Amino acid sequence: MSTCTPPQQNIIDYDRGGYDYREFWADRQYEDWAESRALDRIMRKLGHPRWFADFGGGFGRNAPHYRRRAHHSVIVDSSANNLTHAGELHAADIAAGRVHLVRGTVTALPFVDGAFDAAMVVRVLHHLDDVKQALCEMGRTINGSWLVDVPIKHHALGRLRSAVRLRLGEMSSPEPLIRGSSEHPFRAYRLPVIRQLLSEADWDSDLVASVNNFRRWDQALPQLVVAALRPLVQTLEIVTQSTGRGWWGPSQFLVATRRSDVRPLLGSTPAGLPTSMAELARRMVCPACRDALTWTADHARCGACLQTFRRQHSFWDFVPQG
Ligand SMILES: C[S@@+](CC[C@H](N)C(=O)[O-])C[C@H]1O[C@@H](n2cnc3c(N)ncnc32)[C@H](O)[C@@H]1O
Repeated sequence: MSTCTPPQQNIIDYDRGGYDYREFWADRQYEDWAESRALDRIMRKLGHPRWFADFGGGFGRNAPHYRRRAHHSVIVDSSANNLTHAGELHAADIAAGRVHLVRGTVTALPFVDGAFDAAMVVRVLHHLDDVKQALCEMGRTINGSWLVDVPIKHHALGRLRSAVRLRLGEMSSPEPLIRGSSEHPFRAYRLPVIRQLLSEADWDSDLVASVNNFRRWDQALPQLVVAALRPLVQTLEIVTQSTGRGWWGPSQFLVATRRSDVRPLLGSTPAGLPTSMAELARRMVCPACRDALTWTADHARCGACLQTFRRQHSFWDFVPQG
């Protein structure tokens, strides 16, 4: 099994103070629409994967884009609250064994190499201390293609902002630009740096869309004006999703495709689990030491480091302890 450097990352806590990420979307119809429009188009390029992963998938906001295309999908997220909400939102798909929820970190995933045929990671890279390690770790589990949403610093507005502040040098530096607070840093990258990291990890990448090209345009205007301007801005968004690739919008979508095939080394089928869960269990290992797991209906235990991972209502909790 291949290895990515062990994680040294802080994981942002979306559950602190009872935060409900669903509320973030209450007044962001434009951003949601813009992403949805791009995802709709791009997901077609990923075909009909048997196993699909949505890394940092939150409450499954993007599930409508893969829940019918993929035979089975797994939403992986470190937030118990988000997964609980995903459990409510996708109850029928979960009951049917089409959607699975796994609490875990993208820096130490409980899956075998090549477990998934395709995947996506949307709105997550800005949270990561060590993006190289996390890209390597997520990529390790995929044998096929994945969509990578890259928050870039050198978008049109970012360049303008840096020019006004006489800090254009920060645009060309390979280091991420960090905004926000020390508790909630928000990292924005240079796109070529991320593509280079993917390339070093055996991935070719195509730049497929510039997204959220007019982010927050609708936040400061009266609702009547927003309603009147919406068709125009949506048309501009559609045009810039292709013409703005690499330079205009703050979110740049890549589709990365593996150069060489990785055949997953599946485990044996555990007895006593529903068929679809048993199929997922064959793709899972201990996130701490990558050893095989022994399964019951409500927990999985690692034979090597002896950690136990439990089922918590609608999700399995695979956050390694310590
Ligand atoms: C901005 S939200 C995006 C959620 C979803 N992808 C979407 O587009 O709606 C970021 C998500 O990443 C999760 N997250 C942050 N760091 C993570 C990590 N290291 N491993 C797994 N999930 C993580 C958070 O819990 C949160 O649900």
